[in-house]
Amino acid sequence: MKGKILVTGGTGYIGSHTVVELIEQGYEVVIVDNLSNSEREVVDRIEKITGVKPKFYEFDLKDQLKVDQLFATETGINGIIHFAASKAVGESVQMPLVYYRNNLVSLVNLLEAMQKYNVPNIVFSSSCTVYGQPDKLPVDESAPIKPAESPYGYTKQVCENILRDSIRAFAGSVHGIALRYFNPIGAHPSGLIGELPRGVPNNLMPYITQTGYGIREQLSVFGDDYNTPDGSCIRDYIHVVDLAKAHIVAINRMISGKNKADFEMFNIGTGNGYSVFDIIKSFERTSGKKLNYKVVGRRAGDIEQIWADTTIANNELGWKAQLTIDDMTRSAWQWELNCREKMQK
Ligand code: NAD
Ligand code: WQD
Repeated sequence: MKGKILVTGGTGYIGSHTVVELIEQGYEVVIVDNLSNSEREVVDRIEKITGVKPKFYEFDLKDQLKVDQLFATETGINGIIHFAASKAVGESVQMPLVYYRNNLVSLVNLLEAMQKYNVPNIVFSSSCTVYGQPDKLPVDESAPIKPAESPYGYTKQVCENILRDSIRAFAGSVHGIALRYFNPIGAHPSGLIGELPRGVPNNLMPYITQTGYGIREQLSVFGDDYNTPDGSCIRDYIHVVDLAKAHIVAINRMISGKNKADFEMFNIGTGNGYSVFDIIKSFERTSGKKLNYKVVGRRAGDIEQIWADTTIANNELGWKAQLTIDDMTRSAWQWELNCREKMQK
């Protein structure tokens, strides 16, 4: 075994893909998830893919006592990958306090336990949302942090600050890496794990695959009058498997002492910007389906365009996204098909 990693939110979308990669790299994995946005069955699916069933604890990280008990029981944890959070931008505008409590308190509880139980390393799920609409594209890690567009985005900014301040105060005993993800899409090639949105999807990719399958009638394209080549918004979509691999590199970096500062942050994207129409075209190519869509007005709060400068991640981490936009839409479609087939059984 390379070491023992606690993965919070490990049955969620990005967490489950990362658990698979960790196990395949020889790590022992312990998952904590309260199943507020995922299913217990994901643990069995991880076992199907890897042949190893990770240990699973179902509880809420807001519960300080339970967090403490976990670390008292699971001794020898070498690092934490902290995915668990609430993540729906629109919902965060409706229920800001739920977002502040969940996203901030969970992190504070973990950091307190890390100090008490001498857990040395943490990788944190941050987001390109911390940049807002950058002044310069592609955006690099030194870009200014703009006022947050939503309470969700604000929690990511504050969590980065909580990490920076506490890691500084812990004076070398805890190291942290914040990975600022761009737009993760796609699913594992096994077709066994993927994104499981509850209700009507807010994000583009699951809305497209559900429309392709006939669950939604039509995709609304939010605006074609932006100052971009085809008028639709541009994002840096990244395959979730590439993203998962970045976490293994980040945790390895700290465990092997190769980190250059106690707290570091990296952009995790492909470095390419694709428009909404590019994604639709890719989906049509890889699924062989014609997508029913119509252009509607802009969505409030959307930024026009963003894509990552990944130079620092590429050079420092030695990590680079490998998979193409067609790999992303193909695997997302395969996952949609597998999910629906399973539901009909
Ligand atoms: P997800 O909802 O699929 O996974 C999060 C998991 O955390 C879920 O399984 C949920 O049940 C669990 N969870 C939430 N609150 C918890 C709590 N208090 N205690 C225990 N478990 C809890 O989301 P995801 O897309 O996998 O995102 C993972 C992380 O990455 C989040 O922090 C999210 O903000 C961040 N992120 C996601 C995206 C994206 O587009 N998906 C982009 C940037 C950053
Ligand atoms: C992508 C593009 C939409 C749905 C969100 C969060 C961000 C990060 C990733 C966590 C945009 C367009 C979408 C639809 C559409 N998450 N679209 N019709 O908004 O870039 O980012 O998820 O940190 O914080 O804000 O992703 O998938 O919602 O949208 O036209 O039905 O697709 O306008 O241009 P977004 P998204």
